[in-house]
Amino acid sequence: MQLLSLLCVMVAFWKSCLTNRSCPDLIIDSCHCPAERSKQLSRLPVRIKVVCDDVELMDTLQPSFLPNQTVALILSNNKISLLRNGSFYGMAALEKLDLRNNLISTVEPGAFRGLVALKKLDLSNNRIGCLSAEMFLDLGALSKLNLSGNIFSTLTVGLFSHLAALKVLHLASETLYCDCQLEWLLLWARANAVRLGNDTVCRYPTHLHGLQLRHLREQQLRCDGRHD
Ligand SMILES: *[C@@H]1O[C@H](CO)[C@@H](O)[C@H](O)[C@H]1NC(C)=O
Ligand SMILES: *[C@@H]1O[C@H](CO)[C@@H](O)[C@H](O)[C@H]1NC(C)=O
Ligand SMILES: *[C@@H]1O[C@H](CO)[C@@H](O)[C@H](O)[C@H]1NC(C)=O
Ligand SMILES: *[C@@H]1O[C@H](CO)[C@@H](O)[C@H](O)[C@H]1NC(C)=O
Ligand SMILES: *[C@@H]1O[C@H](CO)[C@@H](O)[C@H](O)[C@H]1NC(C)=O
Repeated sequence: MQLLSLLCVMVAFWKSCLTNRSCPDLIIDSCHCPAERSKQLSRLPVRIKVVCDDVELMDTLQPSFLPNQTVALILSNNKISLLRNGSFYGMAALEKLDLRNNLISTVEPGAFRGLVALKKLDLSNNRIGCLSAEMFLDLGALSKLNLSGNIFSTLTVGLFSHLAALKVLHLASETLYCDCQLEWLLLWARANAVRLGNDTVCRYPTHLHGLQLRHLREQQLRCDGRHD
């Protein structure tokens, strides 16, 4: 019995030596946490990047297991399907969140709550068909949002109203329907100097197929019942 517990202690010791010290509470071995210290100003706080790329994650990581100085969280190429309200709550220093290439179909209102420093959010190549403004609660610092490769066909008026600092928006979609329901987006992007990525291209209607949304005139975004 004693031998066994000694063995356990030894294994735990080796594990803690092998795992990066920056995130001692992280129990998933396949993640790693390189800490980057600023080269010139070493007195600045440690900036930690947590990387869990392609490790079959089914869910996001509990924020309390991650260091609160985490500035980048990379969860790309996993099998996450749901983002719950408050999934990242407490990660107040996070600047970059990468969730691309997952199976996300549901993003609950408040999913990114608490991410007040977030600048870049990548939700590309997921299965999001329905977006709501409440999804983006607290993302007032966000400047780049990538929603490309999802399955929405239209976007509701005021969808990005919480994103006061947004500069670049990528919305490439195989199903983007460029009609009067997207007119607000064009006007909003122009009024707020938000750049629509050049990959944001209309799929339907046929006569606008392949055209970049940002180059269209308002008058081209029509809902007059014609299906041409
Ligand atoms: C620790 O972090 C370094 C980068 O700083 C990384 O190369 C290494 O794989 C990590 N080790 C573990 C066990 O995660
Ligand atoms: C992070 O945690 C440490 C100690 O647990 C605390 O002193 C510090 O204020 C926290 N920082 C932030 C940004 O919450
Ligand atoms: C999300 O959770 C918080 C805290 O539990 C709660 O106050 C808030 O109402 C929730 N938001 C939604 C949209 O459910
Ligand atoms: C947005 O996501 C798509 C799909 O992952 C990718 O091809 C594209 O490079 C991304 N754009 C930016 C600016 O990151
Ligand atoms: C979009 O912009 C990128 C970078 O500015 C450029 O490399 C690419 O060729 C452009 N694509 C199209 C379709 O214009």
